[in-house]
Amino acid sequence: MVGILSFLTIFTITILITKLVASIFLDEWMVSILPRGVAPGISLTLRIVLIGAGNVATHFAFALKKSRHNIVQVFSRSINNAQKLAKIINAKAIDHLSDIEHHADLYIIAVSDNAIETILSSVNFNTKKVVHTAGSIPLSIFSQGIENAGVLYPFQTFSKERELDFSEVPLCIEANNTGFELFLMKLAKQLSGNVRKLNSEQRKYLHLSGVFACNFVNYLYHIAGNILDEKKIDRKILFPLIKETAQKIEKLTPVQAQTGPALRNDTKSLKKHLDLLTSKPEYQEIYKWFSKEIYKTATEKQIK
Ligand SMILES: NC(=O)c1ccc[n+]([C@@H]2O[C@H](COP(=O)([O-])OP(=O)(O)OC[C@H]3O[C@@H](n4cnc5c(N)ncnc54)[C@H](OP(=O)(O)O)[C@@H]3O)[C@@H](O)[C@H]2O)c1
Repeated sequence: MVGILSFLTIFTITILITKLVASIFLDEWMVSILPRGVAPGISLTLRIVLIGAGNVATHFAFALKKSRHNIVQVFSRSINNAQKLAKIINAKAIDHLSDIEHHADLYIIAVSDNAIETILSSVNFNTKKVVHTAGSIPLSIFSQGIENAGVLYPFQTFSKERELDFSEVPLCIEANNTGFELFLMKLAKQLSGNVRKLNSEQRKYLHLSGVFACNFVNYLYHIAGNILDEKKIDRKILFPLIKETAQKIEKLTPVQAQTGPALRNDTKSLKKHLDLLTSKPEYQEIYKWFSKEIYKTATEKQIK
């Protein structure tokens, strides 16, 4: 009994001392002093290599820095691109995969979907912790030999030149083992207040849904803007309409929120619009298709 109590006391004191030391000294100190694999479990500071210097790599870099992580290297095929990002976050820029450092705590592959395989075939990640950031690429892209492989998919639209609040970005995680899943969960929760576990099958449908909700809608903004430009109307007049359309579906379903000539089947207005588009047959096709589908969906849902 005395033995068990002594053990528990020593164990508790050790944990308290470790925590105290970690808070007195920088977490970075803990990372370098403790054996690899132990430190990240205790420390808040990870040493991370970013493979890619594009939109997603840039946003991850800023978010990770904000959470006091240390980006040690940024890789890009173009040293200029790597340097641009590395300089801001105080990392080393590299343009050869062979220069990737071997003892980082995490490797984040944020390159074009098609290039992920190329990276995986060029670097040996077997004993490392590695994730990609793609929605439509399954976890199975990582070979079986990799001990800790995962996905950190941010469900948002990122452009380098546009700042956003990363703490609101839904982060979807998946990992090939429970330990690594916990590691990713802990990291993801430091970066965002919206973290979910999603498997590869679910993630590919989420990505598909994002294409409709973001990319296609954004293309329609492009058409709407072009129509206004031609008549010298400031395209900023669209902003309140776009904002309200996006905001009202937080309270109504898109079917309930729909308005416009197609829903009302205002055939004369529909014909006038098509006439205005005679010089743009591709826009006419889009207009006809959407109008038909809007009316059909509303009729099916018996809104009319
Ligand atoms: N953008 C988004 O909104 C978004 C959202 C969620 C997830 N994602 C995912 O995040 C990943 C990165 O997307 P992104 O938008 O950041 O792309 P991006 O801005 O176009 O950047 C692509 C990066 O991939 C690198 N790259 C391209 N081909 C390569 C190759 N053959 N070998 C090595 N590197 C190569 C580029 O390198 P160079 O600098 O050398 O050209 C660049 O650093 C993708 O998997 C994407 O599906 C994107």
